[in-house]
Amino acid sequence: MVFDALASGYDLGLLPLEMAVLRQMRRRAFPQVEGRVLEVGVGTGVNLPLYPPTTAVIALDLSAPMLRRALRRTTRARVRAVRADVHRLPFRDGAFDAVTGSLVFCSVAEPERALGEVYRVLRPGGRLLLLEHTRGRGLGAWLTDRLHPLWFAWNGVCHLNRETVRSVRRAGFHLRREETRALGIFRLMEGEK
Ligand SMILES: C[S@@+](CC[C@H](N)C(=O)[O-])C[C@H]1O[C@@H](n2cnc3c(N)ncnc32)[C@H](O)[C@@H]1O
Repeated sequence: MVFDALASGYDLGLLPLEMAVLRQMRRRAFPQVEGRVLEVGVGTGVNLPLYPPTTAVIALDLSAPMLRRALRRTTRARVRAVRADVHRLPFRDGAFDAVTGSLVFCSVAEPERALGEVYRVLRPGGRLLLLEHTRGRGLGAWLTDRLHPLWFAWNGVCHLNRETVRSVRRAGFHLRREETRALGIFRLMEGEK
């Protein structure tokens, strides 16, 4: 898996983006969730320190090297790591109060199918919280469309111009709130089942 090889340099590579835009968005979003939480594509666990102590978090990822790094994070939440594919979640229907993720649905193979699985494991009224980079708006759309082929040819996994909001709606979620940054490329999406 591509992310196995990226794990050791991932945090350093993302640092400029974290400082410019992501850190602030993460800090506003992730401390808000409660209860039984599933974080999909947890990566090196950058969101884990942000969860409140009242949460029990399943940190899910397909990459074992990423998960190993996530488990080293200091967090007040109760965290358990699970290695699994977001397209086939090993949980019963309605098992979680909230499902979270950041920078994940740009690189999963079938985002609508995966979001369908997320929908299944959320309880009715449960909350979806996603921080994603997506196809931008206006100039942002033009830029992400132009840059995508080059970017994808280089890394083979991450799509720069995914319409993740549309996939979230198609999976059945009501989109309650959306916040955008940087020409609409970075989006915080809050949905409800
Ligand atoms: C770009 S990283 C994001 C990591 C972290 N969430 C963040 O905000 O920095 C994407 C993560 O999603 C994971 N991932 C990609 N496809 C997946 C899948 N089908 N099932 C589970 N995890 C997946 C990768 O292994 C990687 O750790």
